[in-house]
Amino acid sequence: FRTLDKAEVRGKRVLLRADLNVPMHEGAITDTTRIERVLPTIRELTEKGAKVILLSHFDRPKGKVVPEMSLAPVGKRLGELLGRPVAFATDCVGPKAKEAVDALKDGDVLLLENTRFHAEEEKNDPEFSKALAANGDIYVDDAFSAAHRAHASTEGVAHLLPAYAGRLMEAELKALSAALESPKRPVGAVIGGSKISTKLDLIGNVLDKVDVLFIGGAMANTFLAAEGVKVGKSLQESDMHETARKIAAHAKEKGCKLVLPVDAVVAREFKAGAASEVVPVDKVPEDTMILDAGPKTAELISKHLADLKTLVWNGPLGAFEIAPFDKATVEVARAAAKLTEEGKLLTVAGGGDTVSALRHAGVADRMSYVSTAGGAFLEWLEGKTLPGVEVLRAK
Ligand code: 3PG
Repeated sequence: FRTLDKAEVRGKRVLLRADLNVPMHEGAITDTTRIERVLPTIRELTEKGAKVILLSHFDRPKGKVVPEMSLAPVGKRLGELLGRPVAFATDCVGPKAKEAVDALKDGDVLLLENTRFHAEEEKNDPEFSKALAANGDIYVDDAFSAAHRAHASTEGVAHLLPAYAGRLMEAELKALSAALESPKRPVGAVIGGSKISTKLDLIGNVLDKVDVLFIGGAMANTFLAAEGVKVGKSLQESDMHETARKIAAHAKEKGCKLVLPVDAVVAREFKAGAASEVVPVDKVPEDTMILDAGPKTAELISKHLADLKTLVWNGPLGAFEIAPFDKATVEVARAAAKLTEEGKLLTVAGGGDTVSALRHAGVADRMSYVSTAGGAFLEWLEGKTLPGVEVLRAK
């Protein structure tokens, strides 16, 4: 794909697709990571004299104008972080957008309203793509985290204009490729989460690519139960035992070592400060549930990490949101961070609540790369092609 190195942008109207879908609570942005991560691309474009026209979706308004899902507050925050004014247009197509675009001078920045206020966006409607493209001379895509959506602003419009990957997209693709497509071996993956059923494709694909797979979270309970281990009242999927056994057999065939917990933190109730104890996995009391991997497991995984060159991380090892069930996740995350800082391990993390788990462990900025993507990271781990990336590759 073409990067900004190859783009002639001076005086041009650059449609920059960002993912400004930031978490918001009662009208206040609670995490600005996604805004911050697109700043280098915006700065580079403005410094090179482009007219930057930002496109993004926000939340899921389902094709209607929902005032609470306006991008206006995000534009305000973006202006503060960028340290320069960011103009705002109340529509992403039509006369309002055109008027705002026409008013831009070289080096100016404009944010267009939520693309999902139009139903045609998610339908990838060709006419809508044309209407978006009418406001740009060049298209730059910096929304890796929305690249699993074949929508007009992430895919359709890229067919109509010279298209380039922005700096964030470039960094995401580089990191992901170094982690799984052409990794330094041995390569391992930490996969946590509650259900095997939602991560079947992911585990299947990752198994084919890594040398060691650490399974954590409630998903591990299903693997253990499938082996005949009594897991008490733990969350697990009884109808997935056969599948879990097949996955284990497949791993063996492929020469991928599957590492399951050897001990567990169990409790009778799932609440903060609940009385808990550490037991070997084959000694889980009948009336308790497993809420975290135990210290021996954390140590075992950390030891394995020391032999690896590359690590992909998706999902926590336990119910990390509630203490004391965060210990295994925190300990292993810190071990990975230490090895990363020593230059011994390349760590790439992303998807779902992985980033909040790493933040909780205080190591989110100590990994080699933390993706901004949730769903897109998972689909990439599943080995799926992402339409927003494919269209750039084709260019
Ligand atoms: C995300 O937050 O993962 C992306 O912005 C995509 O959002 P979506 O799941 O609503 O398409």
